[in-house]
Amino acid sequence: RESKLQLVHRHIRAFSDFPKKGILFRDICPILKDPAALTAVIDLFEEHVRKNHQHVELIVGLDARGFLFGPLLAQRLDVGFVLVRKKGKLPGSTVSVAYDLEYGKAEAEIQEDAVAPGQKVLLIDDLLATGGTLYAACELMKKQQAEVLGCMVVIELKELNGIDKLKSHSVFSLVQY
Ligand code: PRP
Repeated sequence: RESKLQLVHRHIRAFSDFPKKGILFRDICPILKDPAALTAVIDLFEEHVRKNHQHVELIVGLDARGFLFGPLLAQRLDVGFVLVRKKGKLPGSTVSVAYDLEYGKAEAEIQEDAVAPGQKVLLIDDLLATGGTLYAACELMKKQQAEVLGCMVVIELKELNGIDKLKSHSVFSLVQY
């Protein structure tokens, strides 16, 4: 019988030279199209959190594909969900951090009142590449004095060593390439 992890693995596909030449893009869209695969992803994240981060108070999702998995997981755990967005998308008072991408530059932003000082949060995204995006989100959490318990991704691209950039934070990934 196929394991949950095998099911997830089977629903990730690769596209070469997207969005730029030389980049092998790992696409999680087939996971979302398959209810069993999506359930498996959330099950695996939930198991990890219940085992390792019982005191989590908030799930923080990264723009854009962290929004696909984060709210489902937050609902399972009965905690809230907040968004880290690309700059300029959020109304009201915001806090932002600039970062480098695997292919370009960007700025991550949250609403000032999104997290409270001391709040225990877990960050979630679809993929860890260079770690720039998750690092920026961790910096935002630091600015707001939230406590980052760890980071979670569906896919980790090992050869880019993103984990080194996040050295003080634990990173949990379902699938590694
Ligand atoms: C991708 C991916 C992560 C980020 C990882 O998103 O979904 O969020 O890159 O890369 P890093 O570890 O090198 O920072 P992208 O920036 O393409 O934006 P999108 O989610 O808006 O498509």
